[in-house]
Amino acid sequence: MFSLPEKFRTGLEVVDQQHAKLLDLLDQGIHFLRKEKTDGFAGVEDFLQALRTYTRIHFQYEEKEMKKASYPQLADQQQMHAYFLKKIHELDDKNTESEREKVREIIVFLKEWFIGHIVEKDLAFGDFLNKQKSSAKSKL
Ligand SMILES: [Fe+2]
Ligand SMILES: [Fe+2]
Repeated sequence: MFSLPEKFRTGLEVVDQQHAKLLDLLDQGIHFLRKEKTDGFAGVEDFLQALRTYTRIHFQYEEKEMKKASYPQLADQQQMHAYFLKKIHELDDKNTESEREKVREIIVFLKEWFIGHIVEKDLAFGDFLNKQKSSAKSKL
């Protein structure tokens, strides 16, 4: 399993595991692009399918945890997550020269957006939740 670099860690175990899995998927996509020959349609579709399914699971989990914690930035996160899924859908539907080109575009988007989102937004949620937990502890 891909080990999540320190700068991406929220300190929330499940979130970090899911981010590691997503970055691992991103890495697999990059490997796929580096191969001389593509594995053909099935390979690309498998990659996109895994990406869509897994991001959905991850966003649902994060939003559920944010709701539970009455996180003030929940709406902002929901909006960004929805934008991401829409964008992946659009890129998937787009007519590109080749399947490889499609994967390339998705990866470029994913790298920028996803990494930016983790660092700017998810880390803030990690801080919020970790503070909430430690103040609950100190009241005991
Ligand atoms: Fe996330
Ligand atoms: Fe998020």
